[in-house]
Amino acid sequence: MTQPTAAMREAMAGAVVGDDGYHEDPTVAALETRFAQMVAKEAAVFVPSGVMGNQIAVRVLTRPGDVIVAGRAQHLVSFEMGAAARNSSVQFATVDDANGALALREVLDIIDAEDDHQAHVAMVSVENTHMPSGGTPWDVAAMVALANAIGGRPVHLDGARLFNAVVATGTSAADYAAPATTVMACLSKGLCAPVGSLLAGPAELMERGRIERKRLGGAMRQAGFLAAAGLVALDTMIDRLAEDHARARQIAELFADSFPEAGYNPSTCRTNIVAFDHPQARQIVDELALLGVEGGTVAPRRVRFVTHAGVDDDDVAYVAEVLGRFKPSVR
Ligand SMILES: Cc1ncc(COP(=O)(O)O)c(C=O)c1O
Repeated sequence: MTQPTAAMREAMAGAVVGDDGYHEDPTVAALETRFAQMVAKEAAVFVPSGVMGNQIAVRVLTRPGDVIVAGRAQHLVSFEMGAAARNSSVQFATVDDANGALALREVLDIIDAEDDHQAHVAMVSVENTHMPSGGTPWDVAAMVALANAIGGRPVHLDGARLFNAVVATGTSAADYAAPATTVMACLSKGLCAPVGSLLAGPAELMERGRIERKRLGGAMRQAGFLAAAGLVALDTMIDRLAEDHARARQIAELFADSFPEAGYNPSTCRTNIVAFDHPQARQIVDELALLGVEGGTVAPRRVRFVTHAGVDDDDVAYVAEVLGRFKPSVR
């Protein structure tokens, strides 16, 4: 939903570019180095989308037939159109992630089942922030405990909104990434870049990741124009995410008051996503959109509204006004 900022447009117009297919784009190289430093990994690869970042991680960390353990509501499992199966011939063993974190006991049981003639668990994937639960940030201690408990198996961190988690918890990106082998973060979404995500990890894996990016059709040429906006995103757009979080909390409280039957606890809204279950979820979303309050559903009975740089205090006041008089029509 976000638009590139004026500073991004200026940086894009003036970007020094080259053919990234030959590693000759200095702006892409600068962005990859910058992100690798932020997450304290050896190397990073610039990719067109978060999905591609996740899919490359799967390609370099698994073999066909392997199992990935992940939360059942995670993007990698539920929102990538079966890409992991299609691209990498892997299967998921899913565990409860209703509150964002993975149920560790369930993860360990799936790994333990290898001794009972079940398929090899090649990796565990976590999502931070966890979108479907309402942008829930992980407690870094829980990530460390998970990584320690799974006996050296790789963890992939889907950090599409990693910097929302950083701002909400005060945990650094490097600390969040430390228990993970690979980490993906998006420059679009809350950080407002027009295109692009980054995957970071060990240098040898990232070299293989470049080949997988090519196979998936994601190698770009003068991509420095996009990377230039990404550098502005990393340099200037992280701290302001706190504003999105504060407005989301206000909106969460408005929804909790308007729909008491949902039993939504607004204090669970810790970043920029307001998400709750309601039997009339689709109707609420459709009818509020007609009044200019636009959101969506992420599951049949689950409503989601998101704040971002394009939502200001006047917009929050408008939501309050609309919700003050709104009731879904009886159907
Ligand atoms: C948690 C998570 N991971 C990955 C992605 C994929 O990002 P993209 O839309 O850039 O492919 C998204 C997109 O919404 C997401 O929410």
